[in-house]
Formats: sequence, C-alpha cells, structure tokens
Amino acid sequence: MKDLRPLIEKKQKAEELTAAEINDFVKSLGTKSSPPDYQIASLLAFIFCKGMSSRETETLTEAMRFSGAQLNRKKFPRDAFLMDKHSTGGVGDKISLPLLPLVLAASDSIYIPMIAGRGLGHTGGTIDKLESIPGCRTEFRMSDFEKRLSKYRGCFSSQSPQITPADRILYALRDVTGTVASLPLIVASILSKKLSESLDYLLLDVKFGDAAFMQDYRESENLAQKLCEVARSQKVVCDAYQTRMQSPLGEYSGNRLEILETENILKGEGPADTTHLTLDFARAFLMRSGMGEETAESSLKKAIQSGKAFEIWEKIISSQGGDLSKCRRQIKSSFQKLKVKRVLAPSSGFIHWKAKSLGWALVSLGGGRRQKSDQIRPEIGFQHRLTEGQRVEKGQEVLKIYYHAQQSLEECLAFVRQSFEIREQSFSEEALIRKVFRDEQKLSGGN
Ligand code: URA
Repeated sequence: MKDLRPLIEKKQKAEELTAAEINDFVKSLGTKSSPPDYQIASLLAFIFCKGMSSRETETLTEAMRFSGAQLNRKKFPRDAFLMDKHSTGGVGDKISLPLLPLVLAASDSIYIPMIAGRGLGHTGGTIDKLESIPGCRTEFRMSDFEKRLSKYRGCFSSQSPQITPADRILYALRDVTGTVASLPLIVASILSKKLSESLDYLLLDVKFGDAAFMQDYRESENLAQKLCEVARSQKVVCDAYQTRMQSPLGEYSGNRLEILETENILKGEGPADTTHLTLDFARAFLMRSGMGEETAESSLKKAIQSGKAFEIWEKIISSQGGDLSKCRRQIKSSFQKLKVKRVLAPSSGFIHWKAKSLGWALVSLGGGRRQKSDQIRPEIGFQHRLTEGQRVEKGQEVLKIYYHAQQSLEECLAFVRQSFEIREQSFSEEALIRKVFRDEQKLSGGN
C-alpha cells in the first residue's frame, strides 16, 4: 500500500477502516511497497485523535500479531505454563526485569517468553535497559527465541524483522510523533507482541496517574478492560492490575541504573515499592500455575534468600551475551566519573511527585529518544529516594542527577522543577495497586 491518503482521509472524517484496508496497510509495512514514514505518522495521528472502533482495534491487533512468526506451543512440555507480564509504561518501571528470573526460580513449570519494547515517549523500555548491559542481545529469530526458551525457560526479546515487525515499525514512529497515548494503538501494540507468544497467561500492569499514558483513572480502566477483552477472546487467561504511576517507581530511573536496582531487588535489598510490585506479580504467576498462596509466598522468599533468583538472572543475561560483571564495573565508574547535580527541596512539607516531567527530563539528557535515530546514553539517570507524601525539610535532597560534564542541564532542570511540589498539608499515599481485573477462567495446565 504505497499511498495511505485514502485511509488518512477516512480517519480524518472519523470513518471506520475496513478489515482489508487495515490488513493491506499492516502487510505493506517494512516492504518495498510500504508508505513513507510521514504518511504513516499522519495516519497514526488521526487514529490518535479520532480513535478506532472495537472491530478496527481487533483487526489491527490481529494484523500486527500475524505480521511475524508465532511461537510454536507444541515445542514446550504439555504441562508447561507459558506466562508473561507487560506494563503500559511508566517512569522507573523496571519490574519485568526482576520478575522473570524470580518466577523461574520459584517454579519449574513456568516459561516466560518476554517480547518487550524500547522506551516510548517519556517512559523507559525493558529492551533499552537490557541493552545497557554490554553485549546483551535482544533481537532473535523466532526459532532461536524458542530454543533459548526451551533451554532456559526465559528469554527477553525485542520486536524484530521476524517477531511482530509491524509493531517494531509503528512503535518507533509513535515514540517520536506524540501518538503513544491512544487506546487502540496501545492495545494493538501490546497484544500483537503478547499473543505471538502463544501464552496461557498474561498479567497486565495498566498504569494511571501523572506519569502514565492514560493519566485519568477511567481512561486507564477502559484500557484495562479492552486489553482483557481482546486477550481473553484469544483464549489467553488475562488479569489486569491497575496501578498508580504518580511518583517514579523505585530508587533509580535511567537505563543502566535500573539494572543496578534490578539486582538489588533480586538480592532482597531493593526499595519497598518495586520489591512489593515484583513480589505481588510473581505471586500471581505462581498461583495461576496452581500453587497455593502460602507455598507461593515461601517459594518466592526462598528464591531470593537462597540466591537462586539472582543466579537465574545472571544465567539468562549471560545466555543473551550480556556481561554483567562489566556492567557492574561501568555502574561503579559512572558513580565516580559522572557529574552529580543534587536537587534540593525549596521548602519544608510533604512531597507530591508528577513524574511525567521526570521522564522527559531523562529523555532530555539522552536517556530516551526524540528522533528515531537517537543513540541512548545508558549511563545517565536519576536517584530518587523520597516516596509520595514523605516529609521533607527545606534544603533536603530530593533527587540526584547523574550526567556528563559536557551536557547542559538547563532543559533537564526545567523539567525536574515541574516533576514535584512540596505541599504544606500532609497527605497519605494511595495504595500502589488500585484494582485487579481478575479473569474468572482458570488455567487448564499447559496445552
Ligand atoms: N507498551 C507497548 O508495548 N506498547 C504501547 O503502546 C505501550 C506500552
């Protein structure tokens, strides 16, 4: 489909695209007859503004899913459970990284084929974080992905020319054209990847609040419902957790610093919020595989205390070519060599975060992309120890910015100043998990 103007004009008028139009458009992506990027961006922008019907959203999801190969469920033991988790995106949200090894350490029957994305808009991406580890490969052919999964029970992969290639193209364009926060585009993007994994179970972390794409609670509820509806219609048992995304999650934001926090969580030394979310999601995986709550709880505790979860993390990353020893040396040297700017509280009171600006502050320093061709600076990042509603005294440190001496901080600081306020009145932090959309369907136990 070389010329997208007829589809663009239909969407301008909020008309429905036919299944044939959507299928032809998706099939042409990445081929010689692909429309130019500027037309694709224009179509995305009109979809963003005018929306899509349920039928269009489902057709787009399916077309994007089948733009690449599907994981062959038959290559895995009959009693295996294929499970995965995906978040709609946040600032400092690194939960996928510790979750995978932790679950594998606590269960022998769960396999996690995790197809993930890079940074999107102001949010960080699992793949960029993994690629901050020297040598870590994240692009595989489906057959290679399956072999790795058979051997290690877990593998992280990006979209690739073989794995949801349509999402690879649209995702990169949405990232730099302000067209991320669209319900149909998010549903198609997430579920095209996850349905290609031939899953038995999918856990979705659907964010709401300042630093989420769907800031409004109701909008994020609609997104959670739509994601569940489409996943369940494809026979995947799907639970959606609606979680608050107001303050940056955990202690660090920034690709390589989030690897440090991942390791801290796996050693049982992580911050309370990221540790709790990782454990809550891991417990849900184990219970969905048939484990009772108490056994799940004790298995997770043992997986961390015995060091098994950490060992599996090291094994999986090294199987993907990642050199964690070098990564740890780089983190250590970043703390010594990078410049540090301490941002102090301008008054005493109680901190209220508005972390979306913190995400953009990170992008402004090279922690994310503004153009498709931008190279990420994996070493830069922030340390933020204060949690939402915490008491803070005037002059107390709110944030540390790690950056290069030659970088200007002007734009970053302008964003950082908008990323929190100090309130005079105390207030209590809302629960991290607001609601769970639990699937009534039980897993039948493998294929
Ligand atoms: N994660 C994705 O994979 N896609 C989106 O559109 C948003 C979050």
